[in-house]
Amino acid sequence: MTKRRNVKPVYSMCVQPSFIIGTNNEDGSPNFAPITWVSVTHEAGDGYLLVISMSGTKATKLNVLRTGIFSANLVSTDMLPLMDYFGSRHAKDGKKDGIACAVSRGEVLDVPVLDLSRWVYECEVSRAVETGDSVTFFCAIRNIQMDERLVCKDPFDVDLTVLNPVIYSGKYHSLGKLLGGIGDFL
Ligand SMILES: Cc1cc2nc3c(=O)[nH]c(=O)nc-3n(C[C@H](O)[C@H](O)[C@H](O)COP(=O)(O)O)c2cc1C
Repeated sequence: MTKRRNVKPVYSMCVQPSFIIGTNNEDGSPNFAPITWVSVTHEAGDGYLLVISMSGTKATKLNVLRTGIFSANLVSTDMLPLMDYFGSRHAKDGKKDGIACAVSRGEVLDVPVLDLSRWVYECEVSRAVETGDSVTFFCAIRNIQMDERLVCKDPFDVDLTVLNPVIYSGKYHSLGKLLGGIGDFL
């Protein structure tokens, strides 16, 4: 048995995926910021909803509230300098153009996309829920751009080792081995 100790509920341990969110500023220029409060849920039909929470008055949140669209660019370990840079600057203090990165437009939605990312969701907000100073957006995924090296036989067949994602829970981590699929441990 694992020996555990009881502590105050002040720690935020949640194994989080790392995404850099691309939005359009009011002047049409792109803005990027890391957001790791990201998950998915399901509603009627086939599609998934991306669930993403943003707190405070950051430009990314205001841009999403204003335009209803954004890109979610999965962060692979080679993108950590981008994640750190975009996460330590605020768009309200000026353009985040102090780091080189190639940017394209989405294939389906008019959103800025990071060329380096191996998995990009193009999202459109379908519902927003406020809790305190945070807003959680439930978003239809209008398009997925996936690395051409990925071969997915079905929606659950995604080999994360190809994507080499940054895992976040207050510190940056990388992924271990692929252990198997559903049912392999029965
Ligand atoms: C690793 C990391 C994860 C973050 N995750 C979130 C998040 O999930 N939600 C959020 O509201 N802000 C998050 N932030 C904070 C924003 O990225 C940060 O405030 C950024 O400067 C906002 O940029 P903007 O003002 O251009 O929108 C995160 C920052 C870092 C560095």
